[in-house]
Amino acid sequence: MIDTQDILSVLKHVVEPSSGRDIVRLSWIRNLKVSDDTISFMLLLGDPTLPFAGVVKSECEKALRAAYPTVRLSIEQDSPMIGLGDDFKIDGKAVADGPGSGVTNIIAVASGKGGVGKSTVATNLAVTLAAQGYSVGLADVDIYGPSIPTMFGLETAKPRVSPERKIIPLEKYGVKLLSMGFLVDPEKAVIWRGPMVTSAVKQFLSDTQWGDLDFLLLDLPPGTGDIQLTIVQTVPLNGAVIVSTPQRVALADARKGIGMFDQVNVPVLGVVENMAYFSPPELPEKRYYLFGKGGARALAEELDVHFLGEIPLVEAIRTNGDEGTPVVTDPSQESTKVFNKVALDLVAQVELRNAVRDATQKIDILHR
Ligand SMILES: Nc1ncnc2c1ncn2[C@@H]1O[C@H](COP(=O)(O)OP(=O)(O)OP(=O)(O)O)[C@@H](O)[C@H]1O
Ligand SMILES: [Mg+2]
Repeated sequence: MIDTQDILSVLKHVVEPSSGRDIVRLSWIRNLKVSDDTISFMLLLGDPTLPFAGVVKSECEKALRAAYPTVRLSIEQDSPMIGLGDDFKIDGKAVADGPGSGVTNIIAVASGKGGVGKSTVATNLAVTLAAQGYSVGLADVDIYGPSIPTMFGLETAKPRVSPERKIIPLEKYGVKLLSMGFLVDPEKAVIWRGPMVTSAVKQFLSDTQWGDLDFLLLDLPPGTGDIQLTIVQTVPLNGAVIVSTPQRVALADARKGIGMFDQVNVPVLGVVENMAYFSPPELPEKRYYLFGKGGARALAEELDVHFLGEIPLVEAIRTNGDEGTPVVTDPSQESTKVFNKVALDLVAQVELRNAVRDATQKIDILHR
C-alpha cells in the first residue's frame, strides 16, 4: 500500500506560482484516501479565481502519474463554502474560508502542568519555523503569567493600532508576536474572571492584523480548567502540541491535557518531551535522565499519539530565554538542531492531518 506521506511529498512539487507555496503547504488537499489501486482526494482551492486554479488538477495528475504509473486517480475539485466561519474571523477572513489566504493553521502549545516549558518550546519552534521559511505568528494567551515578552526581549514594547483599529503585531526573529502581556498588566489581570479572559483572547486574536500566516502558534496558560477549555473551543484550532517533562507528576497532567483536546475534537499533533536528559558540556556523549527516562514518549505510545521528539535540559535554553534571544537564533547550538528536527516533524504532522481531514470538518469546529 502506498504511504500517505509519500503521496504528499509528490504533491509538494505542485506549486501555486503567485504565492510560490506548494499545494500541500497551502492545505488545498483534503479527504486524501489511499486504497490498493486508487488515490483519491479533494482539491479545496483557496482562491478559485487564480489562473492556476484551472490547471492545478492536471498538474496533480501529472505528478502522481509519474510517481505511480499504474494507480487510479480520483481527484475532485471544489472551492470553500463561503460564510463557514462567520463566528471567528482573523483580519476579516474566516479561518475556514480560504486555505492559504489568511491564517492557514492555528496550533495550540499546551501541557496541563505549569513550568514544563510550553513557552520555551512555543518560542523556539516559532523562530525555527520562521527560519525554515514559513510565515509564523506567536500569540501568548497566558494573561496571568505571560512569558513571550521576556523570551523575545520585548518587555517594554507596545503594539501599535492601525487606522482600521486593528492591532499590529510586533515582529522579532521573523515571528509576528502578540502577548496579552503587551496589552494587560499581569498584576491587574489577577482580578479577571474566566469569561473575561476568554472573550479578551478571542477578540485579541481576531482583532489583530496577522496577514497571511502558515502557522499561528498559541502559547496556552498551564492547566486544563475552564479558561483553557473555552479557548480551545472558541478558536478554530488545527491541532495541539503537548509539552511534558518525563516525571510522573507531569505526565499525569499531560494526560489530562490530551484528554481535553480529545473532548473537543482537536487533534493532538504530537507530544514533545522537554528536559528529557542532561549532557554535561565537558561530557557531551553522556546523558543523565534527571527526571526519569522516556516518560513522555511512553505516554504518547500508550495513548497512540505521535511523539515529536526529546529536548534536552540545556543551560543555554534557559539563559537565552531569560535574555530574550531564543537559543535557536544561534545556529552553533546543539539545541538548534534538535528544534529543527522537531519543527520539521511538526510540519509533516500538520500537513498529513490537513490532507486526510474531511473538507467539511471545519463546520463542526466552528459551530460546536
Ligand atoms: N529544555 C530546557 N532546558 C533548560 N531550561 C529550560 C528548558 N525548557 C524550559 N526551561 C526553563 O524552565 C523555565 C520554565 O519554562 P517555561 O516558562 O517555558 O514553562 P511554561 O510551561 O511555559 O510555564 P508556565 O506554565 O508558567 O506557562 C524557564 O526558565 C525556561 O527557561
Ligand atoms: Mg508559559
